[in-house]
Amino acid sequence: MVDHYPVLYREIIQFFRYIENGYLVDATLGGGGHSFLILKYNPNLKVVGIDRDEYAIEIAKDRLSEFKDRVIIQKGSFKDIDILLESLSIKKASGFLFDLGVSHFQLKLERGFSFQREEFLDMRMDRSQRLTAFDVVNSLSEQQLYRIIRDYSEEKFALRIAKRIVDYRRNKKIETTRELADIVCQVYPPNLRYSSRIHPATRTFQAIRIYVNNELNQLETGLEKAIKLTEKDGIIAVISFHSIEDRIVKHTFKKYQQLKILEVLTKKPVIPSKKELMENPASRSGKLRVVRRL
Ligand SMILES: C[S@@+](CC[C@H](N)C(=O)[O-])C[C@H]1O[C@@H](n2cnc3c(N)ncnc32)[C@H](O)[C@@H]1O
Repeated sequence: MVDHYPVLYREIIQFFRYIENGYLVDATLGGGGHSFLILKYNPNLKVVGIDRDEYAIEIAKDRLSEFKDRVIIQKGSFKDIDILLESLSIKKASGFLFDLGVSHFQLKLERGFSFQREEFLDMRMDRSQRLTAFDVVNSLSEQQLYRIIRDYSEEKFALRIAKRIVDYRRNKKIETTRELADIVCQVYPPNLRYSSRIHPATRTFQAIRIYVNNELNQLETGLEKAIKLTEKDGIIAVISFHSIEDRIVKHTFKKYQQLKILEVLTKKPVIPSKKELMENPASRSGKLRVVRRL
């Protein structure tokens, strides 16, 4: 069995359980948690698993090794899913799964995603990429930082945070996660610093991570391509973790539903049950939307 429960796994198993054959593309393979369960509960499916992170690829290869030739694993981004499938001579898939964001092991790996520990401000999912969070906070203008923080996290103190970052770096470069988290905390009025459910730096970290990894553009491109590459009656499932991502998923699905290319199977997004929240509190912001290709 897996050592970590993937988000909304019971629902994901059900949606992919009755597909009769073909390939499921796990576009965000991570540690292979969802794929493991899908392969186990649906013996008719094969999986093409992709991830931008070479470490995820290694973990997933190990976890899925028992399924042998039912699994193909490749490093890459889902924005290039058409090229990737073509290179494998796969014309259409029976399903796609996107489980967005970072995985639990990426958070633990000192990759600069988390401010719980002192880590270098990196935040790259794909470490062959050059741009890091360090470059972003130390070289973009106040206006650029303001827009990124505002648009990618809806942080209400975005302007103050951008100003404080630029002030701080006049004396010293911002090198670590804690340094950045402290800068953000200082901007928050003291009465709001500890009153919210989430740490004041959470939104700013999310925004910078989205920018570093170009997450929203990749999602738009990946979804459009997945819709084209899914065969009739195939299923596309997307789990998102914040409202900006969820909006993109919702609008894309709605657009193709109006064009009679998709049927939306989840009128409202599916959220984790009480039971799941007890098992895995980190699932709390997960939202699942599922469509069927017409
Ligand atoms: C939440 S984790 C997936 C966990 C996985 N479902 C499991 O059960 O183990 C998200 C993964 O997606 C990967 N990822 C994010 N954006 C990607 C992209 N554009 N292309 C490919 N992989 C991506 C991340 O590197 C991360 O490993």
